[in-house]
Amino acid sequence: MFDFKPDPALGKTEIYRQLHDAAEALTHGESDAVANMANVAALLWEFLPDLNWSGFYRMGADASGKDELVLGPFAGRPACIRIPIGIGVCGAAAKTGETQLVEDVHAFPGHIACDAASQAELVVPVMREGKVIAVIDLDSPTKARFTQEDADGIEALATMLGSRI
Ligand code: SME
Repeated sequence: MFDFKPDPALGKTEIYRQLHDAAEALTHGESDAVANMANVAALLWEFLPDLNWSGFYRMGADASGKDELVLGPFAGRPACIRIPIGIGVCGAAAKTGETQLVEDVHAFPGHIACDAASQAELVVPVMREGKVIAVIDLDSPTKARFTQEDADGIEALATMLGSRI
């Protein structure tokens, strides 16, 4: 039994500290990447208020062997399965290796609307040996839901997960 639900009155810094500790504890010593991504997707959903999707896209390949993002473990509604590198917010993060903090998805060129409710998005690449191996994707139904504090918290999580997924 795991009960990681944080006190909603906590500030963002403390929520991200507790989220990091919980993710570290849940993935410690476990070598199965799918299990670790599944638990972290669920933790993100439990810890962070005002989300309509939290999860992973993994670096995979299309039929011709070209890099492509493929849907991984998540919480929320069913989502787009394959995303070409460079397309949408996730594709931009995968192409550049840089965090994409989007206050208004409707203003982001090429944004892929898996759920019409999404208004804001935060996508952070997970790197291993200098390469993007996955992205962490968070969606919110509230414009400007994500701030630099969220980006910092998710980047720290992504760094820890680089060797665990
Ligand atoms: N909106 C994303 C697609 C993935 S879903 O939000 C789960 C994008 O533009 O890459």
